Amino acid sequence: MLIPTLKPLGIVAALHAEIAGLLETMPSRISRRIGGRDYHCGVLAGRECVIVLARVGKVAAAATVVTLIHAFDVEAIVFTGVAGGIGPGVAVGDIVIGDVVMQHDLDASPLFPRYEIPLLAISRLPSSAGMSDAMAACASAFLAHDMAADIAPDERAAFGLQRPHVHRGLIVSGDCFVSGATHANDILAALPDALCVEMEGGAVAQVCFEYGVPFTLVRTISDRADAQAATDFMRFVNGVASVYASGMLRRYLAGVTDVATPSVASGAPVGRL
Ligand code: ADE
Repeated sequence: MLIPTLKPLGIVAALHAEIAGLLETMPSRISRRIGGRDYHCGVLAGRECVIVLARVGKVAAAATVVTLIHAFDVEAIVFTGVAGGIGPGVAVGDIVIGDVVMQHDLDASPLFPRYEIPLLAISRLPSSAGMSDAMAACASAFLAHDMAADIAPDERAAFGLQRPHVHRGLIVSGDCFVSGATHANDILAALPDALCVEMEGGAVAQVCFEYGVPFTLVRTISDRADAQAATDFMRFVNGVASVYASGMLRRYLAGVTDVATPSVASGAPVGRL
């Protein structure tokens, strides 16, 4: 008799620091190099996972997600990373869950309406409601129970992290780092419900939509997409966002939303799809 096995969960980030903490907790892993990327296969919290560094931008993200689907037959994909906050009240240190994703730089007009993915007749792609609900609960629990203890006091002070919030809604992606108030305001004027800008989510969403693979996006706000956006960017990624990513993903994999830091070894079920 064949025993059914769970397909693995794909975990993707654009920067190494965003997956480094999780990789440390998956010591016995097998790595496969495909297309210039290392796909690390192992078990976290009793769950088969494939963790991979996509690198930055929509092409990199699309190539990585296609490989996760074809070569690793992943059941679902979690993308974790940073973003620039553009919505009112979306501050550095907050977390945004992408319930909906679109590409703010996609414009094939007048052949197709601005933002529409040509020949798919859609511009806004939804993430998996179940995965995003579970990730939002883990993000809130991380902020409530772990953040103050896990982030060094000098980093919290440097970035003004006091009472960060979790937001849910529209994430917009484009192949540009937005580092000017004019650019950020232009994007917001055209897409007033956008919460933050980043450079991969729209590609992850499109590939997952085309293959029918559930996904969620979770972004830590590193900057306000203004003239200061690049200042201290890597310090934030290394000192803050890396800790957020590990903390939230640990909770997600362990299915823990209500108590202090869980262990990835607990073996509890992963969030629903
Ligand atoms: N990721 C983090 N900050 C960003 C910004 N300002 N623009 C695009 N992607 C980002």
